[in-house]
Amino acid sequence: MQPERSRRTIIEPFKIRVVEPLPLPDRSERERVLREAGHNLFLVPSRFVTFDFLTDSGTTAMSAAQWGAMTVSDESYAGSRSFEKFEETVRALTGYRYVIPTHQGRAAERLLFSHLVKPGRAIPSNNHFDTTRANIEQLGGEAADLVIPEGRDPQNRHPFKGNIDLARLDAFCATNRDRIPVGMMTITNNTGGGQPVSLENLRGAAAVYRRHGIPFILDACRFAENSYFIKLREPEHGERSVREIARETFDLADGCLMSAKKDALVNIGGFIALKASAWVDSLRSMLILTEGFPTYGGLAARDLEAIAVGLDEVLEEDYLRYRLAVSRYMAEGLNRVGIPTVQPPGGHAVYIDAKAFLPHIPSERFPGQALVCELFLAEGIRSCEIGSAMFGKEVGGRFQPAAMELVRLAFPRRVYTQSHFDYILEGMAELAARKADLRGMRIVYEPPFLRHFTARFDPLP
Ligand code: F0G
Repeated sequence: MQPERSRRTIIEPFKIRVVEPLPLPDRSERERVLREAGHNLFLVPSRFVTFDFLTDSGTTAMSAAQWGAMTVSDESYAGSRSFEKFEETVRALTGYRYVIPTHQGRAAERLLFSHLVKPGRAIPSNNHFDTTRANIEQLGGEAADLVIPEGRDPQNRHPFKGNIDLARLDAFCATNRDRIPVGMMTITNNTGGGQPVSLENLRGAAAVYRRHGIPFILDACRFAENSYFIKLREPEHGERSVREIARETFDLADGCLMSAKKDALVNIGGFIALKASAWVDSLRSMLILTEGFPTYGGLAARDLEAIAVGLDEVLEEDYLRYRLAVSRYMAEGLNRVGIPTVQPPGGHAVYIDAKAFLPHIPSERFPGQALVCELFLAEGIRSCEIGSAMFGKEVGGRFQPAAMELVRLAFPRRVYTQSHFDYILEGMAELAARKADLRGMRIVYEPPFLRHFTARFDPLP
């Protein structure tokens, strides 16, 4: 049975079997906690957070089937039955023969790039995620972002804003052929707002890479969400199953990097999977050095069991329909009360445009950070600033703002319910009505690198 399509209310396609209490501190307690944390939500203990939208990564509620599989895991150091199950599942999903487990996505990145990247090498993609870029740059490589121009425009409603600019990709590959060990695509494009990539564009990118003799690797951590967007938005694929679309996606590439903390519906894990054997011996040797034996790669066998079940569950279309409805519903609700968001909403998150919402707060007073704090005080929400607090710099004594002032609400999978979202939206109308009261922030402490994790702020009077 499917829920009636004509009804507006989104129903969660699951029953709840294990619950945890929702922290409900009152406003004065939140004020105290926020002050003690230097107005930095990364420094707020989660027991004071009612709705934790910091990330969709590793925050999934696992199913009874996943917990059940974990209890029958085989924790043998070498050749465990759980690894065989994990390997079979990844092979069946992707068609890739060689499967190398890692403890999370960035471990897979470091492993692959330490084999392929040397100073001067370049890796094109639509957009590299932060850790992907950092792993490439740390080895002296260049991470080139070639997303289509529509993907950089927050209000543009292109249905596939994660697409790569195929003409620029072709030109980049032609000019830099000898420097490119591998080409990539991130699905969905997290950096660009969780935006999908069309199958047509994936086919185009695969053809460009093939023509230039460049291996093609997917950053596939949200592959199921991307495949469902393709089903919804790319007319000729509307009748295909999501599994079939996902399989064609994987077929187009030579391998993938995966953070299982997203679309494998688990709290920890990752892998590299490859069609060909060329890099495998070297990757496995390095894996033994840094992660663990090739049949567990830094994970417990029970984690491999949970991933194997999660990779099947994530392709259930009732789940994906509900999953994409969450960010759509939240974006529509926010827009209705006058809070602008990046359009269209992404798969895993909604990005509030804090610059447009709070035009009275200039970038050097961190409108995104001011909003993050207010969302916590008023609603108990933890969100993440992606703006000048994260990327702004002082250059020659002058403030240089980030390109955009965004606040990301990333939704954990299967954790919050429709009534939670309705409750939040009710409060958002009040918050929007008194936005003129919001003041900016100033930084009172910052570390030399990645300041957003530990910086401390004071609200301006
Ligand atoms: N690639 C993408 C597209 C990601 O979004 C992430 C993580 C990674 C790779 C790295 O994976 O965390 O398992 O090491 N994104 C999280 C986020 C952290 O909040 O967007 P990891």
